[in-house]
Amino acid sequence: MNSDELEMIKKTWEIPVATPTDSGAAILTAFFNRFPSSLQKFPFHNVPLEELPSNARFRAHAGRIIRVFDESIRVLGQDGDQEKLDEIWTKVAVNHIPRRISRESYNQLKEVILEVLTAACSLNESQVETWTKLIDHVYNIIFKAINEDGDAI
Ligand code: HEM
Repeated sequence: MNSDELEMIKKTWEIPVATPTDSGAAILTAFFNRFPSSLQKFPFHNVPLEELPSNARFRAHAGRIIRVFDESIRVLGQDGDQEKLDEIWTKVAVNHIPRRISRESYNQLKEVILEVLTAACSLNESQVETWTKLIDHVYNIIFKAINEDGDAI
């Protein structure tokens, strides 16, 4: 990623991270609406979709996803950023292994993250491409640790 791309990522990220839980909730609400079966993995799977935004565990996962991205975007451009990204995203993969989250499910979440970011930050086509590159990069770190079904490799 070149310095213009890095600057764009950091600048556009300021918008969703200003309201982290709400941004995460927007992502997760869209995710569960579009891919309802993914909700089965969560302890709040019996809560009706329309009540999720006020559910504490739902809001906790929403905020945590944003925090992982925030930590990643903060280290970008610093010395040792690649090692740090490896560490952050391997931890995400390893923590999710007992929950057996498939690659397909991660990719479904990626699709929704990109859509929510595009709308929230009014990203143009080339900015979407750069964001996609970043998410593909961190996802490759996850996918190095898991197989198709989300089990450990
Ligand atoms: C960008 C990708 C993701 C990130 C950064 C992320 C981040 C996190 C974090 C930080 C936690 C809390 C720590 C832990 O218990 O492991 C967590 C929990 C969890 N994640 Fe994810 N996650 C991601 C994708 C997914 C996907 C695709 C699913 C599947 C549908 C999923 C399902 C869960 C579940 C079921 C929990 C436990 C929630 C609870 O007990 O309340 N995650 N995630």
